[in-house]
Amino acid sequence: MKKITIAIDGFSSTGKSTLAKQIAKHLGYVFVDSGAMYRAITYYAMKNNFISETHLDTAKLIENLPFVTLQFRVNEALGFAEMYLNNENVELNIRTIEVSRLVSKIAAISEVRAKLVEQQQEMGKNKGIVMDGRDIGTVVFPDADLKLFMTASTETKAQRRFDELVEKGQHVTFEEVLQNVQERDYIDTHREDSPLVKAEDAIEIDNSHLSKKEQFELVMELVNEVL
Ligand code: C5P
Repeated sequence: MKKITIAIDGFSSTGKSTLAKQIAKHLGYVFVDSGAMYRAITYYAMKNNFISETHLDTAKLIENLPFVTLQFRVNEALGFAEMYLNNENVELNIRTIEVSRLVSKIAAISEVRAKLVEQQQEMGKNKGIVMDGRDIGTVVFPDADLKLFMTASTETKAQRRFDELVEKGQHVTFEEVLQNVQERDYIDTHREDSPLVKAEDAIEIDNSHLSKKEQFELVMELVNEVL
């Protein structure tokens, strides 16, 4: 069977990674959560005091980018890949609300995007990949065989992210999460470099009222049409 490239883009907390993971598992493909890479760079910038709520030293971050290595390594026990920053497992560190608050500022820096896009294209060069993010169908894999664009109502998005964070034991309020989801979507759609837009040939899916199973079945029909 031929191998294809599947690009899943969309707004924050629309379940892109969950869907991408399900499809990749079903097809035996590689799954890449590109957001984890932007989050890892953000965590690196926070640790080195290049960014905080009140300042951003873009020049210092750019100067240090050549010394940052990112890798996904499969955790055999858990059955999924975890993010490593300079050989350190940062999977938990990158999912905090503090990183979520700053990541869109880091993701707006062109030099950061160029580095990560190059690495993402390398990972997809043999096809057989499902990657989710904001610019996968527009910039990373403009020739992807299937492009999906995920949306959901603001309340649904915030509720999903809130439940996810609470499950991970983080102390956040619903209001805080709602504000973060709205802020990120605003910055991601308004930035100059690779803004979040639906690729012309992407299929839009509003999953506000779809269960994970319904969504998976719907998407697998689309996948089978191009396989
Ligand atoms: O997917 P996730 O919500 O973890 O992504 C975190 C942030 O990383 C997004 O809000 C966006 O600013 C940035 N991002 C991006 N391009 C991608 C993936 C993520 O700009 N391909």
